[in-house]
Amino acid sequence: MNDLLKEYKVIPVVVLNNEEDAKYKLSSLVQGELLVAEITFRTDYALEGIKYAIKNYPQLLIGAGTVINLKQCKDAIESGCKFIVSPGFSREIALFCNERNVQYIPGCVTPTEIMEALSLNINLIKFFPANIYGGLKAINSLGAVFKDTKFVPTGGIDENNLKEYLLNKYVKAVGGSWILKGDIVENCRFIKETIESIS
Ligand code: 3PG
Repeated sequence: MNDLLKEYKVIPVVVLNNEEDAKYKLSSLVQGELLVAEITFRTDYALEGIKYAIKNYPQLLIGAGTVINLKQCKDAIESGCKFIVSPGFSREIALFCNERNVQYIPGCVTPTEIMEALSLNINLIKFFPANIYGGLKAINSLGAVFKDTKFVPTGGIDENNLKEYLLNKYVKAVGGSWILKGDIVENCRFIKETIESIS
């Protein structure tokens, strides 16, 4: 499957509470030229927010995050989400995404979970919560064993450690909710500068 996310080094984890909130956050990402959003199923408004985002922000690559059951996955894909992210690994979600040719990024923190993902041809793994499960030390150990696997660490990543994570050879991209806190456009600018400084 094509890696849709290949050009994105930072994936904003976006919590949407209502239409006004969605408008503000998504417009800010567009203004900051960070054109990807993982909209999480953490609020009652999530699915509506996904639909709103897909309809009104065609310039953004929209995926669903915190997808913890098959229903959410189906709803997200039917609404037009281009990728699905889970905090853990779900075989049924993985199979459904494979069938629909939608990229699935499951959360795995153990070798066993990574092997399960690999058995379904998934080699881009969310590593969550990165700060609790050993951060870069753990990623280095896992990356050395699983040669073709790349990680998207999230959890505890912010402007203070972004560069360090992005510099790691096993890290494909990082995710985080900090981008949507404070001045979003300024955060996007900081991210852009950080990426430019290491490429
Ligand atoms: C996620 O869902 O990926 C995490 O909650 C993001 O972690 P953060 O809030 O520490 O960035």
